[in-house]
Amino acid sequence: MAAVTTVKRDDTYKHFWDRYSDRPDIGSMMLNKNADELEESDRFDVLDSLPDVTGKDVVDIGAGIGRFTSVFAEKARHVVSTDFIESFILKNRERNAHFNNITFKVADAIHLELPSSSVDLVFTNWLLMYLSDSETLQFLLNVLRWLRPDGYVKLRESCSQPSTGRSTNVTLHSDANPTSYRFESIYIELVQNLRYRCPEGKIWRLDIQWSCSVPTYIKHFGNWRQVHWLAKKVLAEDQQAPLAYDQYLQLFSHDWQDEQREIDMKLDGERSNWSDSVFNDAILANSAIVPKNSTIISYNPRRLAYHCHINAHLLAERFTCNIWNVETNPYYYRTSLTKSTELKDNRVRFGWNENLALAIKYWGDHEAAFHSFLATELLSTTDEATMDQLPKILNNDSHLLLLEPADNVEQDSLRFKKILEKNFKVVSISEVTEQVHAHIKEYLKNRKEVFFIYTGLIVA
Ligand SMILES: C[S@@+](CC[C@H](N)C(=O)[O-])C[C@H]1O[C@@H](n2cnc3c(N)ncnc32)[C@H](O)[C@@H]1O
Repeated sequence: MAAVTTVKRDDTYKHFWDRYSDRPDIGSMMLNKNADELEESDRFDVLDSLPDVTGKDVVDIGAGIGRFTSVFAEKARHVVSTDFIESFILKNRERNAHFNNITFKVADAIHLELPSSSVDLVFTNWLLMYLSDSETLQFLLNVLRWLRPDGYVKLRESCSQPSTGRSTNVTLHSDANPTSYRFESIYIELVQNLRYRCPEGKIWRLDIQWSCSVPTYIKHFGNWRQVHWLAKKVLAEDQQAPLAYDQYLQLFSHDWQDEQREIDMKLDGERSNWSDSVFNDAILANSAIVPKNSTIISYNPRRLAYHCHINAHLLAERFTCNIWNVETNPYYYRTSLTKSTELKDNRVRFGWNENLALAIKYWGDHEAAFHSFLATELLSTTDEATMDQLPKILNNDSHLLLLEPADNVEQDSLRFKKILEKNFKVVSISEVTEQVHAHIKEYLKNRKEVFFIYTGLIVA
C-alpha cells in the first residue's frame, strides 16, 4: 500500500477514556482495582526482552501516567511520551519531572506526527485495543514510517477477553466497554504481512521476533491471553509491493478472523491427541527424558496437519514437568492459548515464533537450558544451520524426543541419524507407523475428516 488514506476518527474510545480522566492513577492505567499489587510485576514482564535503549530515541504512545516512560528515560537519549487524555499527561509530567530528556504531548495516536526514520523503539502497552481496525492499520503503517531500519515496535494487548478474565469483581470497566479484544492471531497476521514503500522506493516490513503471554496475568487471573510482541523493521526480502489499504482491511476485519474461527471449531475442546500415547510410551521407557519438575521445550510446526502436535497439558500432568511450547502458526497459537486459559495449568506456556531459529534466539538471549526438547516434524522442517544452534538452549545431558514423518523408513532413518549425529548421540530410532495410524484413525473418527497417512519414526 502506498498512500495512507486518512481514517475518520472514531470518538467512542476517547469518550471511554474521558470517563477515567479524573483518576490519573495506576488503577485507571490497568483498569484494575488491585493494580497496586500487579503493577510492578506487570511492568517487569512487559519490559523483559526489550532491546537495550541506551542512547536511543523512544516513543511511548498511549503512555498514560508514564509508568514505562520513566524506565525508558533512564537510559534513552530522548523519549516522546504521549496520550490523548490531558490529565494523564499532566500526572506523567509530574512523576517524571526529574528527567530532562522527555517531551510530553497530549495527542491522539492516530494524529501523532513524527519525522520518518526518526525512532528506535515505538512502545505501546494496551493501545491497539482502543483503535478501530482501520485506525490500527493506519497506526502500524505510521510506525513503519517512523522507525529507523532495525528499529523495534513493542505491542501488548488484551486478546480475546478482558485482562481480568472472569474476575469481574476487580475490573474497573463499567458495563459499556467498547474495547476490541481481537484474536491474538490477527495481530500477528497484520504485523507480519504489512508492507510499506518508503519515498526511495524500498519496501519495508515488520518482523516479529517473539510473541508470548504476560506471566503476571497467568499467575493472578489464569489468563494466557495477555499477549505481547516485539517486531523489528526490516527490508522485505521479496520486495513485494504492498497491498491496497482496503485489501489489508478486508484481511484484518474479515478473512483472517474467518480462518481463525474455522480452526477454533476443529481444535477448541481437544483434550487428547493421537500423539499422546506415542510420547507417553517413549517417555515411560526412558525416565531421564522428562524427570519430575524438569523444564522442557516442545516444538510444533504442524505442517502436515493441525492435529500433528504434542499435548503439552497432558505431559505436564503426567510427568509433573514445566513445558514451554513453540507454535509457528498464529491460528494454532490462539487455540493453544484458549486451551491454556481453560485448563489453567501454570506449568504450561506457549510462545509464537515464525520459525525455530527465532525461538532459539529468544531462549538463547534468556540463557535458557532446557532439560529436553520434544518435537513433531523437527527434522523434516528444519535446516542444518538451525539444527546447529539447537544445543545452545539445551543443558549438557538434554534429550531429544522426536516424532518424524518418513516417506521411506529405512532411508529416512539413516538421513535423520546423520543430521542428528553432528550435535547429538542417537540412542534409538523406532518405527511407530502402525501405532500412529491406529491413533490417528481413532482421533479422526468423530471429526468427519479424511484419514491421513503417516509413517512415523520416533527418535530419541
Ligand atoms: C490501559 S491504559 C495503558 C496506559 C499505559 N500504556 C500503561 O500501560 O500504563 C491505555 C492508555 O491509552 C490511552 N489511549 C487510548 N487510545 C488512545 C489514542 N487513540 N491516542 C492516545 N492515547 C490513547 C488512554 O488514554 C490510556 O492512557
